[in-house]
Amino acid sequence: MKKLHQENWTSQLGVILAVAGSAIGLGNFLRFPGQAAIYGGCAFLIPYFIAFFLLGIPMVWAEWMLGRYSGIRGYHSMPGVYRCVTGKRRMAYIGSLCVTLPTIIATFYIFVEGWCLMYALRYLFGWMEQGSDVHFTKLFIESVGLEGNGVLFQHGLLNFNLLCMLFCLLFNYFLIYRGIVKGIEWFCMWALPALLVCSLIIVIRVLTLGNPTGIEGQSVMDGINYLWNPVQSGSIFWESLLNPETWLAAAGQVFFSLSLGFGAVCTYATYTRRDDDIIFSSLSAAAGNVVCETVIAAVMVIPAAYVFLGAAFLTPENLSSSFTIGFQVLPEVFNQMPMGRIFGFMFFFLLFLAAVTSSISILQPEIAFLEESLQIGRKSSVTITGLITALGAFFTAYFTKNMAALDTMDFWVCNVFVFIIAGIQIIIVGWGFGIDAGIAELEQGSKYRIPSIFRFIIKYVSPVYLLVVFVAWLYQKSPEQISKISQNTVVQLSLGFIVFITIFNFLITLQALTRWEKQESLDSNTANGEL
Ligand code: ALA
Repeated sequence: MKKLHQENWTSQLGVILAVAGSAIGLGNFLRFPGQAAIYGGCAFLIPYFIAFFLLGIPMVWAEWMLGRYSGIRGYHSMPGVYRCVTGKRRMAYIGSLCVTLPTIIATFYIFVEGWCLMYALRYLFGWMEQGSDVHFTKLFIESVGLEGNGVLFQHGLLNFNLLCMLFCLLFNYFLIYRGIVKGIEWFCMWALPALLVCSLIIVIRVLTLGNPTGIEGQSVMDGINYLWNPVQSGSIFWESLLNPETWLAAAGQVFFSLSLGFGAVCTYATYTRRDDDIIFSSLSAAAGNVVCETVIAAVMVIPAAYVFLGAAFLTPENLSSSFTIGFQVLPEVFNQMPMGRIFGFMFFFLLFLAAVTSSISILQPEIAFLEESLQIGRKSSVTITGLITALGAFFTAYFTKNMAALDTMDFWVCNVFVFIIAGIQIIIVGWGFGIDAGIAELEQGSKYRIPSIFRFIIKYVSPVYLLVVFVAWLYQKSPEQISKISQNTVVQLSLGFIVFITIFNFLITLQALTRWEKQESLDSNTANGEL
């Protein structure tokens, strides 16, 4: 296979930070605290950790294995990876779905990234109103255009939210244009430590809040107990733990947070070398992500909300979406907190950094795919990816009424397709490639050995767990989403956009297959001639 743009990570720390950066994102700082607060705090952590060990770790290893195995054979695109590992032509089409999926996610992820930047700038320049009469929910609704479609475009592009989104798009393109080493690895090497410093400062601030309202049972210790202490979190603990929804939500969180099934981790893994210790790298990145959300993000957000607003506030009704806690609850907390403006800036700035380290990773599968399939340079691949994602981002930013476009794409792509792709990947590793060969591939270059129990987990437990979670989740959520298709034109348009990108990537895969087969036949003729 002719190798184009062969790049490799320059250091183990670089790849760990890049993969951790892909994982650590809005999912950690917005989604996790929101989910933990809704599903009973401590009670959510138990199914979360079970899903992490039985689904998260096996899936992470599956992605790294597939990626490194194909990368050293010259394939960096997901269709190339799937074809290389299975030896089957048709699997390249399944692989192309792993390109469509992150590309669609990038379109709405970057829109939300723009909100983080918008809020960070508001705090930085003192544009965030403070005071007892400020209504942060109203502010959020107006800023992101929830009241109607097209409201953000009333003055063309001269809207703060749109300008922030545009900046995010350009910033992402700039980083991916610079490539794996000079763009992604370089940015993650300083963004992740900066993010950690900001979050630790906020954690210290939260832990030293004491009991600012003076209300009994509303101290910072009570907030921490709610999150970490099953005895103290009261009857809600058992109620939530025995609720199947908590288990589904926990598995979904592990998936989203580790960027599983997004194609991003697998694509990053294609840039590792044969003798890189990928067991250590994968576990470090996954563990960093877990600590970041279960310790740092959770302690930063939940006790702060608890202290100022009370336990009664942390209900599903008040935290209806992942965005509520970040964009409506926390501004209220910063409003009441001494030096809230500085902490508000730090929080949204770290959110912005975390979002960028994730969004560049979800743009990379399309870049690698276009480069490899069409044999084009980085400039052209970034331009094409840029046009597609900008189209999607503006589409999402236009159809903001009740966030119908964002919700539709999030549901079908981030939930349904991600589960299907992850299932295919674990089956390829456990059954297609073979569990022994897969583990041997992972252990290549590593000082560590995978405990033999994981052979059983990868082969049987993870696929069954995944299937149960997926079917239960579909049963619970899909009727509402399916009924929306016939009722809402924006939902139809959003699905149309997904279909459009899927067809586009299928056609390019067709082109790639022709090219690969021609190249392989030339290579084999040359080899035969040489014999
Ligand atoms: N894993 C990324 C996040 O948590 C997508 O935001």
